[in-house]
Amino acid sequence: MPHYQIRGQVPRKRHTIFRKPDGSLYTEELVSTEGFSNVYSLIYHAFPPTMVKAVEEGIDVSPEIALPKNMQHRSFRGFDIKPADDYLESRKMVLVNNDVYISLAAPRRSMVDYFYKNSQADEMIFVHKGEGRLKTIYGSLDFAYGDHLIIPRGTIYQMEFKGEHNRLFIVESMHPLRFPKRYVNKNGQLLEHAPFYERDIRTPKDLETFDERGEFLVKIKRSDMLFPYIMASHPFDAVGWDGYHFPFALSIHDFEPITGRIHQPPPVHQTFETPAFVTCAFVPRMYDYHPQSIPAPYNHSNVDSDEVLYYVDGDFMSRNHIEKGMITLHPIGIPHGPHPGATERSIGKTKTDELAVMVDTFRPLMLTREALSIEDPGYHKSWLF
Ligand SMILES: [Fe+2]
Repeated sequence: MPHYQIRGQVPRKRHTIFRKPDGSLYTEELVSTEGFSNVYSLIYHAFPPTMVKAVEEGIDVSPEIALPKNMQHRSFRGFDIKPADDYLESRKMVLVNNDVYISLAAPRRSMVDYFYKNSQADEMIFVHKGEGRLKTIYGSLDFAYGDHLIIPRGTIYQMEFKGEHNRLFIVESMHPLRFPKRYVNKNGQLLEHAPFYERDIRTPKDLETFDERGEFLVKIKRSDMLFPYIMASHPFDAVGWDGYHFPFALSIHDFEPITGRIHQPPPVHQTFETPAFVTCAFVPRMYDYHPQSIPAPYNHSNVDSDEVLYYVDGDFMSRNHIEKGMITLHPIGIPHGPHPGATERSIGKTKTDELAVMVDTFRPLMLTREALSIEDPGYHKSWLF
C-alpha cells in the first residue's frame, strides 16, 4: 500500500514525552492492523481518544437478503436508486456475501452533525457523480468524478459534497484492500509494469486540528449494527501523525491501460485485491492491433467467481442496452459473453471509450430487496437471437 507519510507535528521519537504549549501532554494513539503485524500509524491527539460520554442503542443495518441463492445473469439500473439527504441512509446495499457488501448511493447532503466509522470493513467509494471533500483525522482528500476513495476500517470520516447530485458505488470489504501483489516489488514499491504509480496516489492534506471538547456523535458500524457513540472530544483533534495506515485516493482517469496485439484478459485492468475478491478498472484505450484480432471479449466461463460490472461511461461495445450506472452480475456456473452482433461489430474498431469498475468475488453473491427493486428483468435471455 502507499508508503510512509507524516503530517503535522510528531515527537522526534515515538512513545516519548510530547507536550502542548501549555505544558500538558498530547495523547499518542497507535492505530494498528492485523494485531501488531501489519501497517500502522501513530496519531498525536489534543485529548485522549477514549473519552466516551454515552453509547446509545445500536441500529440494525444488516443487508435485507431477498434472494440468497442466485444462478441467473442479472442487470440492475443503478441510477434508479432514490437519492436521500443523509449520507448513511442513502447507501443501499445491493449485492452481498460474507466477504463484501456492494452498495449504491445518491446522497444529497454533506455530513455535518455526525461522524462515521466503519469498524467492520475497509471501504472503497467510487465517485461516479459529484465532488467534494473526505474529511478525516489524517487530513482531507478532495474527490471528484472517477476517484476511488480507499478508507481503511477504523477511520472516522465525514463526506462533504459540493452539490446535491452525487452518485457513489461503494464496496465494503471485510478483508484489507491491497494493491495486487504482482504490482509491487519486495519493498512495496509499485513496479514499472503496474498501471498506476505512487504519484497517482493522493494522500491526505491540510491537516486541521480541532482542539475542542464537547459532545460529538460518531456512528460506528460493527456486526452490521450502527452504534451511536457520544465522544467528549472532537474526532479530528490530531496535531500530527505518521505511518502507513491512512485513507487515500486513486482516480480511474490516472489508470494507464495495458493493451496488446490480441485481447488482453481482465487481470490487466486490476486495481485492488483481497483474499476474497478483486477489483478492476476498464478505461478508454486503444484496441488490439493484430490485423485479425477480435476486440470484443470471448465467451467466458468464470468457474470460480461471480462477476459484477458497474458501467460508468462510454460505449460498452460487447453489450447491448447498457446505460450509465447499470450493474451486471454474471454468476459462477454459467458462461457469459458478447451480446448478439457485438463480436462482428467490434472487428476493425481501433479504440473504446468505455469506463467501468469490476468486482469479481470468489464466493457467490446474494441479492438484496433493493437490488430486486431496480432489476431489469429478462437480462438473462438477452443473448438469444
Ligand atoms: Fe467475464
